[in-house]
Parts: sequence; C-alpha cells; structure tokens
Amino acid sequence: MNKPLLEWSEALALDQQTMDDTHREFVELLNRVAALPDNELLAGLDDFIKHTEEHFGQEERWMQEFAFPPAHCHQGEHANVLEVIREVRKRVADGQVQLGKTLTDALAEWFPQHAGSMDAILALYMKQIGYVPGADNSAAIAVAAAANAAQAAPGCSPGADACGHGAPAEAGQQS
Ligand SMILES: [Fe+2]
Ligand SMILES: [Fe+2]
Repeated sequence: MNKPLLEWSEALALDQQTMDDTHREFVELLNRVAALPDNELLAGLDDFIKHTEEHFGQEERWMQEFAFPPAHCHQGEHANVLEVIREVRKRVADGQVQLGKTLTDALAEWFPQHAGSMDAILALYMKQIGYVPGADNSAAIAVAAAANAAQAAPGCSPGADACGHGAPAEAGQQS
C-alpha cells in the first residue's frame, strides 16, 4: 500500500465542522488524483476542479455574507490556485501528463499552509461572531457589521502587495 501524498491529521482540523468536512474531502481527492494512472488523470482533475470550485466558493460566500475584511486576500489566493490547476489540466489534456505530479506535490505543500493561515483565521472569526453555516445568521452578521464599523478594516488593501498570495509554485509554468 502506498502512503497517501497528504495525510489528514488533527493538525489540519479547524474546529469548524463544515469547513473540516470539505477539507477532509479535499485531502482525499488530492490523494486520489496523485495515485491515478495517466489515462485516468484528466477525469480525476475534472472532479478535483469541481470540488475545489465548490470548496473555495463556499468560503467566499461566507466571507461575503459577513463582509470579512481580509476577504480580498483570501479570494485572491483561491483564484491563483484555481488558475494554476486549470492551466495544468489544459496541459495534461495536451499530453503533458507528468505535470499532474508536479501539481499534486505543490498542492500537498500549499494546502496545510492555507488551512493553517487564511482558513484558520476565517474559522476563528466565524466562531467569534457566532456564524454557523446553514443557520439563521442575522445576529452574527450584525455583530460583524458593528465590529467593521468600529475599527479600520485590518484586511489588506487591493493593490498593496501584502496578501502573500501563495499559489503553488508555478506548477503549470514549466518551459
Ligand atoms: Fe479551505
Ligand atoms: Fe480558503
């Protein structure tokens, strides 16, 4: 039995049930893609892209709902990562199947960092304002709005290079 590329551990858990469930699926799918034979890679990447779009979209909807100040940074990183995955998918379709491994290795390095920083901050904030996915969150949204009004937003400003977007290191940019 081969060792999975990235092992789920409690270190990746953020004490946010919905997010943790999605992240567990992300890790499982990543491991699955990493273990696929070349002739199944493209279909595996398509499943992975679909799941990742939903995963990122879910977090972005939450951030939008309570006008999370650092949403800009977080969304920017999601967009960069998805762009890299889609580019690799395109090149795999063109026959560069070896890029699949470059991509999955890069994502296995990227994900714990993203989960431990941007997603962890988001999960903590959701807990602080009492936001529960799927519940009536009007009180939580009011708490967030009051907090935003009371202080200058601590987020990073668009254009400033303070986000530290950590897309997987140019997996799709081999020459
Ligand atoms: Fe996430
Ligand atoms: Fe995220």
